[in-house]
Amino acid sequence: MYDQVMESLGYIRKKVTCEPKIAVILGSGLGSLVDAVEQAQEISYEEIPNFPLSTVKGHAGKLVFGKINGVETLLMQGRFHYYEGYTMKEITYPIYVMKQLGIEKIIVTNACGGINQSFEPGTLMLIRDFINLFGNNPLIGMNDERFGPRFPDMSEPYKIELIDKAKKIADELSIKYAEGVYAGFMGPYYETAAEIVMIQRHGADAVGMSTVPETIVANYLGIDVLGIACITNMATGIQKVKHSHERVVETAQKASTDLCKWVVSIIEEFSIS
Ligand code: HPA
Repeated sequence: MYDQVMESLGYIRKKVTCEPKIAVILGSGLGSLVDAVEQAQEISYEEIPNFPLSTVKGHAGKLVFGKINGVETLLMQGRFHYYEGYTMKEITYPIYVMKQLGIEKIIVTNACGGINQSFEPGTLMLIRDFINLFGNNPLIGMNDERFGPRFPDMSEPYKIELIDKAKKIADELSIKYAEGVYAGFMGPYYETAAEIVMIQRHGADAVGMSTVPETIVANYLGIDVLGIACITNMATGIQKVKHSHERVVETAQKASTDLCKWVVSIIEEFSIS
C-alpha cells in the first residue's frame, strides 16, 4: 500500500500548491464548510490514482484545498463507509495520503444519533472516546512500520489538548456543546432499540456509522484528532418516530451554521499553536 499512497501523493502534489497541516472530514449534510474556502483547488476522488470512489447520497467525493481565514486547509468532502462495501483499508486510505501530505491534525465531523437523554437533535458533541462495534478495524493484517507501530496506543483517540481548545472557542462564540462517547456500528440499518439499550449501559452517548476507522488510522499514523458529532436525531427507542435519512441530512444542515463557525475558529487556533 505504501507505493500506492505515494502515487496518490505524487498526483496531488502536481495539482495543488497548497500545503495544509490541518484537514477536516465533512460528515453528511455538513459540506457547507466548503463555502468558507478561498482560492479553492478541488480534486475529485476519481481523478486520484488508487483512491476509492464515493457512492452515498449527500456525499460529493472530493478533496478541497484552500485557505480558511488565511489558514491552508484540506477538506475531505464525502467519506467512505463500511456499509458501502469498502474494506477498512479503503475507508481509511485518504488518511494515509493526508499523513504523507503533511497533515498533523484532523477534525472529524459526522451526523449521528443521540443516546444521552440530555441531547436533542442539533446538539453538537465533542467526541471524547469511541467504542468500536464494527467487528473489524483498519489495522488488521500485516503491519508496515513505515506507517506506524504494530500495537498503537489508543488511550487518547481524541486529543484532550484539542478538545480543551475547542471548548474554549465554543464558549467565546457562545456555541453550546456537549461531550461524550461515540459508538460506531457498521450499519447501514439504524440500530435496533435493544442495541441502543446495550450500548447506553456501556457508556455510549451517541451512535453512528463512521468516524471510528478514520480515528484509529489517524492515531496509528501519529495525527492528532478532534471529533465533533452532530446529533441529528435521537437513537432508536429513545426517539418515537422512525428514522429518515432526509431528516438526518436536514438537521445536520441546520446545525452546520454553528458547526462551521466553530470549526473555522478552531482551524485558526490550531494554526497558531
Ligand atoms: N444511528 C446511526 N447512524 C446515524 C444515526 C443513528 O441514529 N443518525 C445519523 N446517523
